[in-house]
Amino acid sequence: MMLHVPDVLTSDQVCELRSALDGADWGDGRETVGEQGARVKRNRQLPEYSVVGRQLAKTVLMALSRSALFHSAALPLRFVPPLFNRYESGEHYGLHVDGSVRSIPGTGEQLRTDLSCTLFLSHPDDYDGGELEVVDNYGTHEVKLPAGDLVLYPSSSLHQVHPVTRGARVCSFFWLQSMVRDNHQREMLFGLDQSIQSLRTRLGESAETVALTGHYHNLLRLWAEV
Ligand code: NI
Repeated sequence: MMLHVPDVLTSDQVCELRSALDGADWGDGRETVGEQGARVKRNRQLPEYSVVGRQLAKTVLMALSRSALFHSAALPLRFVPPLFNRYESGEHYGLHVDGSVRSIPGTGEQLRTDLSCTLFLSHPDDYDGGELEVVDNYGTHEVKLPAGDLVLYPSSSLHQVHPVTRGARVCSFFWLQSMVRDNHQREMLFGLDQSIQSLRTRLGESAETVALTGHYHNLLRLWAEV
């Protein structure tokens, strides 16, 4: 499942991040990928240990912690600190799959990448190309979102970023390990949670919404690894 999470950042936060990023020292994007990725990756990134990047990553995680939709869909256990990338002048990232296990810099810890996230920091009108294309069982999907919006997709999907032919595409990207490893189980929990929320909003709390909430938590208890 791919999910569009709107308004993770306000327009003021996007402006703040962009002014810090536009003056930052960018490095070669190939520094954080394996052999297959390096062959097809042409972009720039803030280095993993960039002080500016670290600071901005905290802003992104703080903003995400306020998104109920994101938490309902991702059920995050832990994150790789968000990184930042920039594509311009024809830069692109060819078809690849993200590595299955990543180190969390500076901690000696590793996580399994269940979900990949891209948070857009450029207005779509400010650049041409740069669509994120994700291939899943239902076909090929192209995503280009407003600045401040995020897309979440299974890290097991093949995906690519099309060449940016005008302007600059700046994004934050990161991975997370979910409490629920299986995509299908996680998606069912998300569907159930969203339906419960919607029932509660329409009809108020009732014996049925309490019972359904119980089923939700009992399924989560059955499937969660924490
Ligand atoms: Ni990728």
